[in-house]
Amino acid sequence: MKAIRTGSAPSTLDTLTLVEVDNPGAPGPGEIRVALKASSLNYHDYAVVKGMIPTAEGRIPMSDGAGIVEAVGDGVNEYKVGDLVVSTFFPDWLDGTPPQSAFTRVPGDGIDGYAREVVVAPTTWFTRAPKGYDAAQAATLTCAGLTAWRALFVDYALKPGDTVLVQGTGGVSIFALQLAKAAGANVIATSSSNEKLERVKALGADQVINYRETEAWGPKAMELTGGRGVDCVVEVGGSGTLDQSMLATRIGGHVALIGVLSGFAGPVQTALLFSKNLKVQGLTVGSRKHQIDMIAAVEANGIAPVISDHFAMADLADAFRHQESGKHFGKIVVDI
Ligand SMILES: NC(=O)c1ccc[n+]([C@@H]2O[C@H](COP(=O)([O-])OP(=O)(O)OC[C@H]3O[C@@H](n4cnc5c(N)ncnc54)[C@H](OP(=O)(O)O)[C@@H]3O)[C@@H](O)[C@H]2O)c1
Repeated sequence: MKAIRTGSAPSTLDTLTLVEVDNPGAPGPGEIRVALKASSLNYHDYAVVKGMIPTAEGRIPMSDGAGIVEAVGDGVNEYKVGDLVVSTFFPDWLDGTPPQSAFTRVPGDGIDGYAREVVVAPTTWFTRAPKGYDAAQAATLTCAGLTAWRALFVDYALKPGDTVLVQGTGGVSIFALQLAKAAGANVIATSSSNEKLERVKALGADQVINYRETEAWGPKAMELTGGRGVDCVVEVGGSGTLDQSMLATRIGGHVALIGVLSGFAGPVQTALLFSKNLKVQGLTVGSRKHQIDMIAAVEANGIAPVISDHFAMADLADAFRHQESGKHFGKIVVDI
C-alpha cells in the first residue's frame, strides 16, 4: 500500500515522498482496519512537513484521517464493516483532562499519521463520522472542527446572543463561524482579503473587518459592538494578534488562545488582562469525548464543512504550497 513519508530531518516540502509500505494486515482484538479515503491540512501538519516541529525521519504526516471500516477485530462492537469513521487528534485522550503522554502521540507528529491508504488501530483512535458526511467532509473535523468546538462550547459556554470574533478564514475560524451561528451568536469575522470577507458574510458573519486595512481591528470590533466588546475571541494569530484580541473583548470576556499564525512569542499588554478581568484560555484540540459531542452538534444543526480545495495524496506537497499561499478558504482536503 502507498503512503507519504517525510525525508531526512528537518523535513521540507521537497522531501515528501510517495512510498510503498507494508500492509498492516488483519485487526487484532479491539482493533479496526480502516481504508483511509481522505485527510485534511492543518497548520500543525504544515509545521511538521516544513520541519518547524521536529519529528522522526520518515514520519507519515497528517493528523486527520477518515475512511471506511474494512474489518473488525475480536470484541469490537462499536463499529461494523462499511462504517465511515474519523480519527481523533489525541489517541490517548479519551475524556477528562489530557494525560501528559497524550501530547507525545499525536498522529502525523509523535507517531505516524494518516497520509496512507490503510491503518489498523484501536477502536478508540476513531469515532463514527456524522451521518450524511462523506470521507472528505469527515476528515476536516479531527483538528480544526474540534478545536473550534472546544473553544466555544467546552472552555467557553457560548449562549445565543453572544458575540464571537473569528480571525482569518482558515479551517479553525470558518468552523468557529459556522458553530457560533448555529448556536445563535453574532459573529464578527476578520480577513486580509475583501473577497474572502464577502464569502464569510455569505456564511452568516454579521460584521466584518479587513485586518490588513484596519490594523487597530480590536478597537474597531469594540466599536461594532456599541462599545461593549465581544464575548469570546477565537484567537488563532498568537503573539502578534493577542493585544488586538484583548482590546476587542468585553470586561470579563474570554479569549481562546489557539494559534501561532503571527508568531510563537512576543510582548503582550499584560495590564489589559487584569484591567479588563479577561480569561485567556490556551487549548490543544480536544478529547475523544469532545469529538463525539461535536459530531452530535454538527448532525443536529446540519453543519457541512467548507472545503475550498482537493488534492490527491501524491500531490501532498502541492497541497501544502497552496496552504502556504493563503489562497484557501476553510479546509484543504487530500483524497486518498
Ligand atoms: N491549539 C490548538 O489545538 C490548535 C488547533 C488547530 C489549529 N491551531 C492553530 O490555529 C492556527 C490556525 O490553524 P488553521 O489550521 O485554521 O490554519 P489555516 O487553515 O492555514 O488558516 C490560515 C488563515 O489564517 C489567516 N491568518 C493568517 N495570518 C493571520 C493573522 N496574522 N491574523 C489573522 N488571521 C491570519 C488567513 O486568513 P485570511 O486569508 O482570511 O486573512 C489564513 O488564510 C494555526 O496557528 C494553528 O497552529 C491550534
